[in-house]
Amino acid sequence: MSVETTLADVRQRAMAGLSEASSLGEILEWERLYLGPKGELTVFLRSLGALSPEERPIAGKAGNALKVELTALFEARRQALATADLDQRLEADRVDVSLPGRAQTIGAAHPVSQMIDDLSDIFALMGFQTVFGPEVETGRYNFDLLNIPSDHPARDVWDTMHVDAPGEIVMRTHTSPMQARVMEQTDPPVRVIVPGRVFRYEAQDASHEWMFHQLEGLAIDRNITMADLKGTLTEMARQLFGPKRRIRFRCDFFPFVEPGVDFAVDCAICDGKGCRVCKHTGWLEMGGAGMVHPRVLTGVGYDPAVYSGFAFGLGIERLTMMRTGVDDIRAFAAGDVRFLRQFARAA
Ligand code: PHE
Repeated sequence: MSVETTLADVRQRAMAGLSEASSLGEILEWERLYLGPKGELTVFLRSLGALSPEERPIAGKAGNALKVELTALFEARRQALATADLDQRLEADRVDVSLPGRAQTIGAAHPVSQMIDDLSDIFALMGFQTVFGPEVETGRYNFDLLNIPSDHPARDVWDTMHVDAPGEIVMRTHTSPMQARVMEQTDPPVRVIVPGRVFRYEAQDASHEWMFHQLEGLAIDRNITMADLKGTLTEMARQLFGPKRRIRFRCDFFPFVEPGVDFAVDCAICDGKGCRVCKHTGWLEMGGAGMVHPRVLTGVGYDPAVYSGFAFGLGIERLTMMRTGVDDIRAFAAGDVRFLRQFARAA
Protein backbone atom coordinates (compact mmCIF):
# COMPACT_ATOMS: atom_id res chain seq x y z
CA MET A 1 0.00 0.00 0.00
CA SER A 2 1.38 3.39 -0.91
CA VAL A 3 1.87 6.09 1.68
CA GLU A 4 -0.92 8.14 0.09
CA THR A 5 -3.38 5.27 0.26
CA THR A 6 -2.48 4.56 3.89
CA LEU A 7 -2.98 8.19 4.90
CA ALA A 8 -6.21 8.46 2.89
CA ASP A 9 -7.48 5.36 4.67
CA VAL A 10 -6.54 6.71 8.11
CA ARG A 11 -8.13 10.04 7.29
CA GLN A 12 -11.37 8.46 6.13
CA ARG A 13 -11.76 6.30 9.24
CA ALA A 14 -10.70 9.14 11.51
CA MET A 15 -13.29 11.47 9.98
CA ALA A 16 -16.02 8.87 10.33
CA GLY A 17 -15.06 8.18 13.93
CA LEU A 18 -15.01 11.87 14.69
CA SER A 19 -18.54 12.44 13.51
CA GLU A 20 -19.75 9.37 15.40
CA ALA A 21 -18.23 10.39 18.73
CA SER A 22 -21.12 11.77 20.77
CA SER A 23 -19.65 12.07 24.24
CA LEU A 24 -16.53 13.35 25.91
CA GLY A 25 -15.49 9.77 26.67
CA GLU A 26 -15.85 8.72 23.04
CA ILE A 27 -13.89 11.67 21.66
CA LEU A 28 -11.04 10.98 24.09
CA GLU A 29 -11.05 7.36 23.00
CA TRP A 30 -10.88 8.59 19.38
CA GLU A 31 -7.87 10.75 20.25
CA ARG A 32 -6.15 7.75 21.79
CA LEU A 33 -6.74 5.70 18.61
CA TYR A 34 -5.37 8.26 16.14
CA LEU A 35 -3.31 10.95 17.83
CA GLY A 36 -2.22 9.32 21.11
CA PRO A 37 1.35 8.05 21.67
CA LYS A 38 0.32 4.69 20.24
CA GLY A 39 -2.24 6.13 17.85
CA GLU A 40 -2.24 5.24 14.15
CA LEU A 41 -0.97 8.58 12.94
CA THR A 42 1.76 8.76 15.57
CA VAL A 43 2.92 5.27 14.69
CA PHE A 44 2.88 6.26 11.02
CA LEU A 45 5.00 9.35 11.59
CA ARG A 46 7.46 7.40 13.74
CA SER A 47 7.92 4.81 10.98
CA LEU A 48 9.02 7.34 8.36
CA GLY A 49 12.63 6.30 8.92
CA ALA A 50 11.92 3.02 7.18
CA LEU A 51 11.01 4.79 3.95
CA SER A 52 13.34 5.64 1.12
CA PRO A 53 14.99 9.09 1.22
CA GLU A 54 12.78 10.18 -1.71
CA GLU A 55 9.51 9.12 -0.10
CA ARG A 56 10.37 10.32 3.40
CA PRO A 57 9.82 14.13 3.00
CA ILE A 58 6.61 13.68 1.00
CA ALA A 59 5.18 11.20 3.48
CA GLY A 60 6.34 13.35 6.39
CA LYS A 61 4.66 16.46 4.97
CA ALA A 62 1.41 14.64 4.21
CA GLY A 63 1.42 12.90 7.61
CA ASN A 64 2.04 16.13 9.49
CA ALA A 65 -0.62 17.94 7.49
CA LEU A 66 -3.10 15.24 8.43
CA LYS A 67 -2.01 15.49 12.06
CA VAL A 68 -2.59 19.25 12.06
CA GLU A 69 -5.99 18.79 10.42
CA LEU A 70 -7.14 16.03 12.77
CA THR A 71 -5.81 17.82 15.85
CA ALA A 72 -7.77 20.96 14.97
CA LEU A 73 -10.95 18.96 14.30
CA PHE A 74 -10.44 17.01 17.52
CA GLU A 75 -10.02 20.17 19.60
CA ALA A 76 -13.16 21.74 18.17
CA ARG A 77 -15.19 18.57 18.70
CA ARG A 78 -13.82 18.07 22.21
CA GLN A 79 -14.74 21.64 23.13
CA ALA A 80 -18.26 21.22 21.84
CA LEU A 81 -18.79 17.93 23.63
CA ALA A 82 -17.28 19.26 26.87
CA THR A 83 -19.67 22.19 26.84
CA ALA A 84 -22.64 19.91 26.14
CA ASP A 85 -21.52 17.58 28.90
CA LEU A 86 -21.24 20.43 31.41
CA ASP A 87 -24.64 21.79 30.42
CA GLN A 88 -26.16 18.39 30.94
CA ARG A 89 -24.59 17.93 34.35
CA LEU A 90 -25.64 21.41 35.45
CA GLU A 91 -29.16 20.72 34.33
CA ALA A 92 -29.26 17.40 36.18
CA ASP A 93 -27.76 18.81 39.35
CA ARG A 94 -29.38 22.18 39.53
CA VAL A 95 -28.53 24.25 42.58
CA ASP A 96 -29.72 27.81 42.67
CA VAL A 97 -26.73 29.47 44.27
CA SER A 98 -28.48 32.82 44.12
CA LEU A 99 -30.99 31.74 46.79
CA PRO A 100 -30.20 33.26 50.17
CA GLY A 101 -28.95 30.77 52.77
CA ARG A 102 -31.08 29.63 55.67
CA ALA A 103 -30.25 31.71 58.70
CA GLN A 104 -29.67 29.80 61.90
CA THR A 105 -31.75 31.29 64.67
CA ILE A 106 -31.01 30.86 68.33
CA GLY A 107 -34.07 29.85 70.31
CA ALA A 108 -35.33 31.60 73.40
CA ALA A 109 -37.08 30.45 76.55
CA HIS A 110 -40.88 30.28 76.41
CA PRO A 111 -42.54 33.05 78.48
CA VAL A 112 -43.88 30.40 80.87
CA SER A 113 -40.39 28.96 81.29
CA GLN A 114 -39.07 32.48 81.91
CA MET A 115 -41.68 32.96 84.62
CA ILE A 116 -40.75 29.62 86.22
CA ASP A 117 -37.08 30.69 86.21
CA ASP A 118 -37.93 34.04 87.77
CA LEU A 119 -40.13 32.45 90.44
CA SER A 120 -37.42 29.89 91.24
CA ASP A 121 -34.95 32.75 91.77
CA ILE A 122 -37.37 34.72 93.92
CA PHE A 123 -38.24 31.75 96.12
CA ALA A 124 -34.64 30.56 96.32
CA LEU A 125 -33.83 33.84 98.09
CA MET A 126 -36.50 32.93 100.65
CA GLY A 127 -35.01 29.48 101.17
CA PHE A 128 -37.32 27.47 98.90
CA GLN A 129 -35.95 24.63 96.83
CA THR A 130 -37.44 23.98 93.36
CA VAL A 131 -38.55 20.37 92.82
CA PHE A 132 -40.48 18.63 90.05
CA GLY A 133 -43.02 15.83 90.17
CA PRO A 134 -44.80 13.37 87.88
CA GLU A 135 -47.47 14.64 85.51
CA VAL A 136 -49.23 11.28 85.61
CA GLU A 137 -50.41 10.63 89.15
CA THR A 138 -52.25 8.08 91.22
CA GLY A 139 -55.58 8.86 92.85
CA ARG A 140 -53.81 8.42 96.17
CA TYR A 141 -51.51 11.43 95.66
CA ASN A 142 -53.80 13.57 93.52
CA PHE A 143 -56.76 13.14 95.90
CA ASP A 144 -56.57 10.78 98.92
CA LEU A 145 -53.52 12.14 100.70
CA LEU A 146 -54.92 15.64 100.12
CA ASN A 147 -57.96 14.83 102.22
CA ILE A 148 -60.16 14.27 99.19
CA PRO A 149 -61.58 10.72 99.80
CA SER A 150 -63.22 8.88 96.91
CA ASP A 151 -66.71 9.62 98.18
CA HIS A 152 -66.00 13.22 99.05
CA PRO A 153 -68.03 15.67 96.98
CA ALA A 154 -64.91 17.81 96.56
CA ARG A 155 -63.54 15.12 94.30
CA ASP A 156 -65.96 16.42 91.69
CA VAL A 157 -64.40 19.86 91.79
CA TRP A 158 -61.80 18.86 89.23
CA ASP A 159 -62.76 17.59 85.84
CA THR A 160 -60.13 14.94 85.62
CA MET A 161 -58.53 13.20 82.67
CA HIS A 162 -58.12 9.54 83.54
CA VAL A 163 -55.42 7.34 82.09
CA ASP A 164 -56.67 4.05 80.65
CA ALA A 165 -54.73 1.83 83.07
CA PRO A 166 -55.52 -0.44 86.03
CA GLY A 167 -56.16 1.40 89.28
CA GLU A 168 -56.88 5.10 89.44
CA ILE A 169 -54.28 6.79 87.25
CA VAL A 170 -54.90 10.41 86.31
CA MET A 171 -53.22 13.32 84.62
CA ARG A 172 -52.52 15.44 87.69
CA THR A 173 -55.16 18.13 88.10
CA HIS A 174 -52.90 20.29 90.24
CA THR A 175 -49.34 20.37 91.59
CA SER A 176 -50.57 19.71 95.15
CA PRO A 177 -49.85 15.93 94.99
CA MET A 178 -46.19 16.91 95.34
CA GLN A 179 -46.96 18.23 98.84
CA ALA A 180 -47.51 14.64 99.98
CA ARG A 181 -44.64 13.22 97.93
CA VAL A 182 -42.13 15.71 99.34
CA MET A 183 -43.29 15.31 102.93
CA GLU A 184 -43.25 11.51 102.69
CA GLN A 185 -39.63 11.66 101.64
CA THR A 186 -38.26 14.34 103.96
CA ASP A 187 -38.44 15.25 107.60
CA PRO A 188 -39.45 18.80 108.47
CA PRO A 189 -38.53 21.58 108.01
CA VAL A 190 -39.69 21.66 104.38
CA ARG A 191 -39.57 24.59 102.00
CA VAL A 192 -40.22 23.74 98.36
CA ILE A 193 -41.84 25.12 95.26
CA VAL A 194 -43.11 22.82 92.52
CA PRO A 195 -43.59 24.27 89.04
CA GLY A 196 -45.17 22.07 86.40
CA ARG A 197 -47.93 21.13 84.01
CA VAL A 198 -51.41 20.28 85.19
CA PHE A 199 -54.36 18.92 83.21
CA ARG A 200 -58.06 19.56 83.42
CA TYR A 201 -60.80 18.35 81.15
CA GLU A 202 -62.42 21.74 80.62
CA ALA A 203 -63.85 23.76 77.79
CA GLN A 204 -61.25 26.23 76.58
CA ASP A 205 -61.74 29.97 76.55
CA ALA A 206 -59.57 33.04 76.96
CA SER A 207 -58.82 32.11 80.58
CA HIS A 208 -59.11 28.29 80.51
CA GLU A 209 -56.86 25.71 78.92
CA TRP A 210 -56.95 21.93 79.31
CA MET A 211 -53.23 22.07 80.09
CA PHE A 212 -51.54 24.84 82.01
CA HIS A 213 -48.81 25.38 84.58
CA GLN A 214 -49.04 25.80 88.30
CA LEU A 215 -46.53 26.68 90.95
CA GLU A 216 -47.09 24.92 94.24
CA GLY A 217 -45.49 26.22 97.40
CA LEU A 218 -45.10 24.33 100.67
CA ALA A 219 -43.45 25.37 103.93
CA ILE A 220 -43.57 23.20 107.06
CA ASP A 221 -41.85 23.88 110.37
CA ARG A 222 -42.63 24.61 113.97
CA ASN A 223 -44.68 27.77 114.52
CA ILE A 224 -45.53 28.60 110.93
CA THR A 225 -48.59 30.83 110.70
CA MET A 226 -50.80 32.61 108.18
CA ALA A 227 -48.55 35.64 108.67
CA ASP A 228 -45.68 33.69 107.11
CA LEU A 229 -47.93 32.78 104.18
CA LYS A 230 -48.95 36.37 103.64
CA GLY A 231 -45.39 37.65 104.01
CA THR A 232 -44.07 35.09 101.52
CA LEU A 233 -46.70 35.87 98.89
CA THR A 234 -46.31 39.61 99.39
CA GLU A 235 -42.56 39.33 98.86
CA MET A 236 -43.14 37.30 95.70
CA ALA A 237 -45.61 39.90 94.34
CA ARG A 238 -43.18 42.74 95.08
CA GLN A 239 -40.29 40.99 93.38
CA LEU A 240 -42.45 40.39 90.32
CA PHE A 241 -44.55 43.53 90.10
CA GLY A 242 -42.77 46.23 92.10
CA PRO A 243 -42.25 47.32 95.71
CA LYS A 244 -45.73 48.70 96.39
CA ARG A 245 -47.77 45.54 95.83
CA ARG A 246 -50.21 44.24 98.43
CA ILE A 247 -51.78 40.79 98.84
CA ARG A 248 -55.45 40.18 99.57
CA PHE A 249 -56.81 36.99 101.16
CA ARG A 250 -60.44 35.93 100.93
CA CYS A 251 -62.01 32.83 102.46
CA ASP A 252 -62.13 29.85 100.15
CA PHE A 253 -62.36 26.11 100.50
CA PHE A 254 -59.81 23.47 99.56
CA PRO A 255 -60.00 20.11 101.40
CA PHE A 256 -56.25 20.06 102.07
CA VAL A 257 -55.98 23.42 103.86
CA GLU A 258 -57.67 24.90 106.90
CA PRO A 259 -58.28 27.76 106.84
CA GLY A 260 -58.27 28.13 103.06
CA VAL A 261 -58.09 31.33 101.04
CA ASP A 262 -57.87 32.61 97.57
CA PHE A 263 -55.32 35.33 97.11
CA ALA A 264 -54.96 38.29 94.82
CA VAL A 265 -52.39 41.02 94.23
CA ASP A 266 -53.40 44.63 93.71
CA CYS A 267 -53.14 45.59 90.05
CA ALA A 268 -49.72 46.94 89.14
CA ILE A 269 -51.03 48.57 85.97
CA CYS A 270 -53.49 50.95 87.69
CA ASP A 271 -52.12 50.74 91.24
CA GLY A 272 -55.38 49.13 92.36
CA LYS A 273 -57.62 51.90 91.02
CA GLY A 274 -59.29 49.67 88.42
CA CYS A 275 -58.44 49.19 84.75
CA ARG A 276 -58.98 46.87 81.82
CA VAL A 277 -56.34 44.35 82.98
CA CYS A 278 -57.88 43.91 86.47
CA LYS A 279 -61.38 44.15 85.01
CA HIS A 280 -61.96 47.31 87.08
CA THR A 281 -61.69 45.47 90.41
CA GLY A 282 -58.21 46.70 91.34
CA TRP A 283 -57.17 43.07 92.11
CA LEU A 284 -55.64 40.25 90.11
CA GLU A 285 -56.54 36.73 91.25
CA MET A 286 -53.46 34.55 91.58
CA GLY A 287 -54.51 31.26 93.17
CA GLY A 288 -55.45 29.30 96.28
CA ALA A 289 -53.63 28.91 99.57
CA GLY A 290 -54.03 28.06 103.22
CA MET A 291 -52.63 26.32 106.28
CA VAL A 292 -51.90 22.66 105.56
CA HIS A 293 -54.76 20.55 106.94
CA PRO A 294 -53.84 18.40 110.00
CA ARG A 295 -55.12 15.32 108.15
CA VAL A 296 -52.63 15.92 105.35
CA LEU A 297 -49.82 16.17 107.90
CA THR A 298 -50.95 12.98 109.68
CA GLY A 299 -51.25 11.19 106.33
CA VAL A 300 -47.56 11.65 105.61
CA GLY A 301 -46.47 10.87 109.17
CA TYR A 302 -45.96 14.42 110.46
CA ASP A 303 -47.28 15.28 113.94
CA PRO A 304 -49.74 18.18 113.57
CA ALA A 305 -49.29 19.01 117.25
CA VAL A 306 -45.64 19.85 116.57
CA TYR A 307 -45.58 21.01 112.97
CA SER A 308 -47.66 23.38 110.95
CA GLY A 309 -47.24 24.96 107.57
CA PHE A 310 -48.74 26.72 104.63
CA ALA A 311 -49.32 25.76 101.02
CA PHE A 312 -50.27 27.76 97.98
CA GLY A 313 -50.88 27.11 94.32
CA LEU A 314 -50.87 29.69 91.59
CA GLY A 315 -51.39 29.68 87.85
CA ILE A 316 -48.16 30.47 86.01
CA GLU A 317 -49.81 31.44 82.71
CA ARG A 318 -52.10 33.76 84.63
CA LEU A 319 -49.12 35.39 86.32
CA THR A 320 -47.42 35.72 82.94
CA MET A 321 -50.55 37.33 81.52
CA MET A 322 -50.49 39.91 84.31
CA ARG A 323 -46.86 40.67 83.60
CA THR A 324 -47.11 40.84 79.80
CA GLY A 325 -50.67 42.07 79.25
CA VAL A 326 -51.49 39.01 77.09
CA ASP A 327 -55.23 38.51 77.42
CA ASP A 328 -55.75 35.01 76.00
CA ILE A 329 -54.26 32.02 77.82
CA ARG A 330 -54.58 29.87 74.70
CA ALA A 331 -51.77 31.81 73.02
CA PHE A 332 -49.15 30.20 75.28
CA ALA A 333 -49.54 26.63 74.00
CA ALA A 334 -50.60 27.51 70.44
CA GLY A 335 -47.01 27.34 69.20
CA ASP A 336 -47.07 30.51 67.11
CA VAL A 337 -43.49 31.79 67.05
CA ARG A 338 -44.67 35.28 66.11
CA PHE A 339 -46.39 35.42 69.50
CA LEU A 340 -43.51 33.82 71.40
CA ARG A 341 -40.80 35.92 69.75
CA GLN A 342 -42.19 39.06 71.39
CA PHE A 343 -41.11 37.73 74.77
CA ALA A 344 -37.69 36.41 73.77
CA ARG A 345 -34.98 37.62 76.06
CA ALA A 346 -31.37 36.72 76.51
CA ALA A 347 -30.95 33.65 78.67
N1 PHE B 1 -54.39 22.89 94.24
C1 PHE B 1 -55.32 24.00 94.29
C2 PHE B 1 -55.95 24.19 92.89
O1 PHE B 1 -55.43 23.65 91.96
C3 PHE B 1 -54.65 25.29 94.70
C4 PHE B 1 -54.15 25.24 96.11
C5 PHE B 1 -52.86 24.85 96.38
C6 PHE B 1 -54.97 25.63 97.17
C7 PHE B 1 -52.39 24.81 97.68
C8 PHE B 1 -54.51 25.61 98.44
C9 PHE B 1 -53.23 25.22 98.69
O2 PHE B 1 -56.94 24.85 92.75
